[in-house]
Amino acid sequence: MTSEPPKSLADQFTYRFGAPPAFHEPTSGNDTLAYLAGRCSHRKYLDRPVEAALIETLSAAALSAPTKSDLQQCDVVIIEDPSLRKNINDLFPEDLWMAKAPAFLIFCGNNRRQRQVHQWRGHPFVNDHLDAFFNASVDAAIVLATFTIAADRVGLGCCPISQVRNHAATISDLLGLPERVFPVAGMTLGWPAGDGKVSPRLPLGVTLHKDRFSEQGLEGHVDAYDARRHTVQPYANQRFAGEQGYETVTPYTWSEDKARQYSKPERADFGAFIRSKGFKLD
Ligand SMILES: Cc1cc2nc3c(=O)[nH]c(=O)nc-3n(C[C@H](O)[C@H](O)[C@H](O)COP(=O)(O)O)c2cc1C
Repeated sequence: MTSEPPKSLADQFTYRFGAPPAFHEPTSGNDTLAYLAGRCSHRKYLDRPVEAALIETLSAAALSAPTKSDLQQCDVVIIEDPSLRKNINDLFPEDLWMAKAPAFLIFCGNNRRQRQVHQWRGHPFVNDHLDAFFNASVDAAIVLATFTIAADRVGLGCCPISQVRNHAATISDLLGLPERVFPVAGMTLGWPAGDGKVSPRLPLGVTLHKDRFSEQGLEGHVDAYDARRHTVQPYANQRFAGEQGYETVTPYTWSEDKARQYSKPERADFGAFIRSKGFKLD
């Protein structure tokens, strides 16, 4: 396998998943599928601003995404004030690439408006449980994903940033997020410096099911994916290198990296933050 992703749709799927799906060449929409098959996050940007009006246009496109029960529980905050941007950048001193991104947005879940509507219309809100938080989170995730597509399609590049939740309370204060409005993810945005790198995914035999969920052959599939991915997209660094229990391994694989990632606590305080925002998570 070469390190360059090929261009035809079937070949793009093969590069992404190791083998193509049962392939049907569509009579229309091919360019959209080819774009999705070959899309990637971008973390390097030209030193060129993105017009405020374009960011607003992309946000409007993203907010046109499907929304659970038409509840419209995602709000997008575009960071325009340079001093606010600096305050956010300062939370991530090790991620200078994020600070260099020409634009930054934060996608929020908002279950506050729904409850306000209940007050205004005189009906009790009697669904104060996990689903209220979950629905708003899913809406925000869908808008976030749609924004990535909109941005890519106009030639921009972007990268979602869940790291904003490492500082959920601080970011919430900086943005003035009221009760029951919470950050789901940020987004860096800019004109890409280069093509980016298409990231291979687990084979469809692992993530695509027919009728019934199956884990048949899972470990072998993950091993094969590790090997395929290592060939075309080896990790530049080993996570927690030099620390006890994280000896250098060769090859350093995707599954090793993911197992290392969650071998240490990450955002264990997020539930407490969400509860402090007024949500019940039972
Ligand atoms: C919800 C979400 C949060 C993410 N957060 C971060 C992040 O904080 N930092 C980062 O560098 N990439 C982040 N990413 C980007 C992923 O690392 C990236 O999508 C993944 O490695 C696959 O690469 P690809 O998007 O190029 O296919 C995030 C992606 C998603 C969907």
